[in-house]
Amino acid sequence: MSLGVRRRLGILLSGRGSNFEAIARNVLAGKLECDIGFVFSNRPNAPGLAMAREFGFPCGSLETKGVERENYDRQVVTILQEHRVDLVCLAGYMRLLSGYFVSAFSGKILNIHPSLLPAFPGLDAQYQALAHGVKITGCTVHFVDEQLDSGPILRQASVPVLDDDTAESLSARILVEEHRIYSEAIRWVLKGNYRIEGRRVIETETASSCSNVFSP
Ligand code: GRF
Repeated sequence: MSLGVRRRLGILLSGRGSNFEAIARNVLAGKLECDIGFVFSNRPNAPGLAMAREFGFPCGSLETKGVERENYDRQVVTILQEHRVDLVCLAGYMRLLSGYFVSAFSGKILNIHPSLLPAFPGLDAQYQALAHGVKITGCTVHFVDEQLDSGPILRQASVPVLDDDTAESLSARILVEEHRIYSEAIRWVLKGNYRIEGRRVIETETASSCSNVFSP
């Protein structure tokens, strides 16, 4: 990523958009030194997309019906490139990216998942954690590859599972951590202070400059 210019985030979402909102508020507060280049949704009625409109960010959606996956992704990539997006942040984007998309933004796509990966990938991760009976779960920010909820891990936060938790109560506590670590990870990636060895993402400078800034 080029230094010296303000980098631009592309946010992809399919639903409520609370992670997008947390990132956007950090950008607007100057805690994240970047701009929101485009907010895209595969669902025209996603509440997160309506929120992007209210914020006044460039945003839009594309109809998925009848469009083959790679063809769809080619159109999304074109939109993101036209808006000079440097870093793509999946924030509840309910589509697996094609190889074309992953190559087009190689090493520049992040995702957040509500479990401590590699445990409980896929849908309903909080419910999966409860059903399995784990005592600790959490959330993970990772680079995106072509597999589901795979890719080198950037940040994780743990959340205890309480005896009286429901999927809703557990999700709510995990979400607080999601909102914190996603911005931390974005800040870290934008700074470029890391190298990747196999699956390991290793900080090349202390994380002190990145921590505590986003604590609720
Ligand atoms: C979050 O739990 C995130 O971890 C998962 O999808 C959910 C999106 O929530 N990938 P929101 O739309 O950001 O509120």
